[in-house]
Amino acid sequence: MAYTAKDYSALIGMHGFSEALLRNHFTLYQGYVTNTNKVLDGLDALIKDGKGATPEFAEMKRRLGWEFDGMRLHEFYFENLDGEGVVPKDGRLAAKLAEDFGGYENWEKDFKATGAMRGIGWAVLYQDAATGRLLNFWINEHDTGHPAGCAPLLIMDVFEHAFMIDYGLKRPDYIAAFFANINWKAVEGRLR
Ligand SMILES: [Fe+2]
Repeated sequence: MAYTAKDYSALIGMHGFSEALLRNHFTLYQGYVTNTNKVLDGLDALIKDGKGATPEFAEMKRRLGWEFDGMRLHEFYFENLDGEGVVPKDGRLAAKLAEDFGGYENWEKDFKATGAMRGIGWAVLYQDAATGRLLNFWINEHDTGHPAGCAPLLIMDVFEHAFMIDYGLKRPDYIAAFFANINWKAVEGRLR
């Protein structure tokens, strides 16, 4: 079954994100969905043709992680936006952030510092399924650095396309706008 691009046009109008930037981002996301389907079909065709031992198969298989993660990370990203930007103080997530980071402020400093790192990629708050612990990770490009068995809770895109149209090189200003729009209910809903 092919993957279908979701419609995130309801995000248009979100404060701190121009329509041009968001539409550009949606188009990029749709490309990952299209290419995930193409790569999956291509791999299937190569296997059916007995070409599993070819460089074409190997390269396409490597490509799958990049396209698939590019699709799925954007879905998590768009779906953890359009909120009020305030963590529910009495919620499970606030308690867990306090437990694992020594307080919300410490977590936020670490997450923002992760997102401000030089390079293109993603800052991700994960929950380790084995222990329940929360951890911030840097994901290089889309496919490098994911902790095995961990569930993504909060995703922040820090590729230049996520902010340059509106903020130029001022990534911290984009990160501030991102934080003002976090949908913490959606994030808390991903917590186990
Ligand atoms: Fe992106």
